[in-house]
Amino acid sequence: MVSVTREEVIRKPQVLTATLADKGIVLEKSCGGQGICGSCKCKKVEGEVHYLRDAIASFNESTEILPCIAVPKSEVLVLEMLSA
Ligand code: FES
Repeated sequence: MVSVTREEVIRKPQVLTATLADKGIVLEKSCGGQGICGSCKCKKVEGEVHYLRDAIASFNESTEILPCIAVPKSEVLVLEMLSA
């Protein structure tokens, strides 16, 4: 499980996958981070995200996120990795 703050992502404009990589968590990105494949999907334990584009991949928005196209909306986001 990993915790990410909004500040960590906003400090360097980047999506969550880049912030997670800075923390040593490198997620699979089969579609290159386009929100298409779902390979980066994580379980959302706490917090909310904002999507920079519409997701094409199928996922449950209430319990999962696609970090390749997301930035935190809440101050703190707690995620559980499903791959990596
Ligand atoms: S990398 Fe493909 S949906 Fe995130």
